[in-house]
Amino acid sequence: MNDLAGKHIVLGLSGGIACYKSAELCRLLIKAGATVQVVMTEAATQFITPVTMQALSNQPVLLSQWDAREPNNMPHIKLGREPDAIVIAPASADLLAQLAQGRAADLLTLTCLARPLERTPLLLAPAMNREMWAHPATQRNVTQLRADGAVVLPVGQGDQACGEVGDGRMLEPEQLCDALIAHFQPKWLAGQRVLVTAGPTFEAIDPVRGITNHSSGKMGFAIARAAQEAGAEVTLVAGPVHLPTPWGVRRVNVQSALQMQAAVQAEVEGATVFVAAAAVADWRPASAADQKLKKDGSGLPPALDFVENPDILAGVAQGERARCGALYCVGFAAESHDLLAHAQAKRARKGVPLLVGNIGPATFGQDDNALLLVDAEGYRELSHAPKLNLARQLVAEIARRLGAAAQV
Ligand code: C5P
Repeated sequence: MNDLAGKHIVLGLSGGIACYKSAELCRLLIKAGATVQVVMTEAATQFITPVTMQALSNQPVLLSQWDAREPNNMPHIKLGREPDAIVIAPASADLLAQLAQGRAADLLTLTCLARPLERTPLLLAPAMNREMWAHPATQRNVTQLRADGAVVLPVGQGDQACGEVGDGRMLEPEQLCDALIAHFQPKWLAGQRVLVTAGPTFEAIDPVRGITNHSSGKMGFAIARAAQEAGAEVTLVAGPVHLPTPWGVRRVNVQSALQMQAAVQAEVEGATVFVAAAAVADWRPASAADQKLKKDGSGLPPALDFVENPDILAGVAQGERARCGALYCVGFAAESHDLLAHAQAKRARKGVPLLVGNIGPATFGQDDNALLLVDAEGYRELSHAPKLNLARQLVAEIARRLGAAAQV
């Protein structure tokens, strides 16, 4: 999706081995529709050449505050005023220190200092050795930079170029690109805590077999992402799917319906919105065998007994009504026909204010979907679109209803 269409980004690189990831970040930003002007410090050019960054950004890289190509000879003024955001990735410990002190010894720091605070957001992606990151001076600088209005992104954790392991890695290019996309989304759900279930469940028959379904988890993951982008604190309880965790979302992995129920019960405390998008298995084998079931030569399959799984959504909604709580519950219905009638009936049966219907077989595994929102007032169709696009619309609809509820 062209999530950064029309956005102009200044991408700053300071010195650090993570510069090799900035090439990919530049490519992703452009793929998402942005125009990118790269600015590099002298130290950054020790790690990656301006030639690479120019080829990827399709613009000459700016390196010096003495660049005379600008008619007024003040490249930093234009650079700070024109972009929709300045992103510095990697932001080295030294760069953070310079910015925290308001220093302006090179074009990149000069541009940051000269930017109008209310107009040009500054996002910093720190990258350094774990000791440098943990040092009180760096942490002090981070606190100062946040107080001064910069968005200091978190660091990743893991292997470092120096051979050590710990906090301080730069986030991956995909994460940085998603963080920037999220930055531009309207904050409909600021202050909300959203719990989402997604994906199928897997009900074990024995240690090697089980029952599951075709849910890909894509819709639920898109909702978790859209809620995070909208400013909510998001927890995603995910059945077995191979999808990357959306940027900024806390994920709890589960397998079975009972595990999903336990995770939801543990996480729902303090949540203000619950979106049940998971395709929970209706039944599970009454007892999973400890050992693999074997053919016994009789030609007969093993007799499997099933028991019904708890309805996680209905249980949460019922508990919430009993408590007269403020949790806003949203259910999903995957149907094969008569969507409106089924969605209305399901909304009543589950006892939730909003039920989202979709045609299951048409959407399972796809990147696109169409939704039917059913509430007390009636229904509204969200026409065929990419799931993330629909998820953003759904989040706006939920926010509107939360706003209305707050006014009651
Ligand atoms: O009854 P049905 O499975 O069609 O209901 C779908 C809705 O209920 C979805 O929101 C789904 O996540 C939720 N559900 C649940 N626990 C179940 C079955 C469904 O939370 N055991």
